[in-house]
Amino acid sequence: MKEIIRLDDIRRDFRVGDETVHALRGVTFTICEGEFVTIMGTSGSGKSTLLNTLGCLDTPSAGEYYLDGTAVRSMDKNQRATLRNRKIGFVFQNYNLLPKTTAIENVELPLMYNPSCSSAERRDRAVAALKAVGLGDRLLHRSNQMSGGQMQRVAIARALVNDPAVILADEATGNLDTRTSFEVLVLFQQLHAAGRTIIFVTHNPEIAQYSSRNITLRDGRVTGDVRNAAILDAAETLAQLPEQED
Ligand SMILES: Nc1ncnc2c1ncn2[C@@H]1O[C@H](COP(=O)(O)OP(=O)(O)OP(=O)(O)O)[C@@H](O)[C@H]1O
Ligand SMILES: [Mg+2]
Repeated sequence: MKEIIRLDDIRRDFRVGDETVHALRGVTFTICEGEFVTIMGTSGSGKSTLLNTLGCLDTPSAGEYYLDGTAVRSMDKNQRATLRNRKIGFVFQNYNLLPKTTAIENVELPLMYNPSCSSAERRDRAVAALKAVGLGDRLLHRSNQMSGGQMQRVAIARALVNDPAVILADEATGNLDTRTSFEVLVLFQQLHAAGRTIIFVTHNPEIAQYSSRNITLRDGRVTGDVRNAAILDAAETLAQLPEQED
């Protein structure tokens, strides 16, 4: 199995006034291509800090991080930004779409930084990504003209459009009702089945049952790391949920 992520004794300290907060206290693990990893832990355990590190949005205080074979620490800010754009797709709890902008334009955005991608190719790839998440009939809808679940699908299409090495999700179902959460979870399971590498931070222990591996954080340390031998099928769970009432 190809190794996509290697963290070696990652530490992240934040100085606040006279105090130092140890958000990550030595995190070590590897993630291979095709894994669907959930990361859980109580509030303040370091999940977002870890995800920001993995996403090259934040730099560790100490330790080494290798993303798809590249040592991230030795890179400068611009190199990291390029690496992030090419290798990582982000999905956030609040979707982070451009307001009043069409689905296509939102999904095209990551391709704007790629000079070798023509405007026609950009459009084609955005349309293909939106079709892949079931939004072929919402291409020209603006973000304020879509439901939460649809906005999250646009965000997932945007994360996919660059064909990233890894998809990072922070509470991606956190703002959605149960039914819509499972619809989005079905999509993540389809991406996993297609061979995508996914890291999904969540508070919800139920979601871990649908992933292939669960890492638990506590006080900035890994306290659990288990493979899931009996992955539940989100589509099956969805089919058993009661129909939505008006
Ligand atoms: N920019 C920052 N400056 C100072 N302290 C920070 C900063 N970011 C995070 N922390 C601290 O680091 C610790 C870990 O925070 P983090 O946001 O990673 O937790 P989390 O597990 O994502 O929590 P939640 O489930 O509430 O989102 C917390 O104690 C937090 O107060
Ligand atoms: Mg968080």
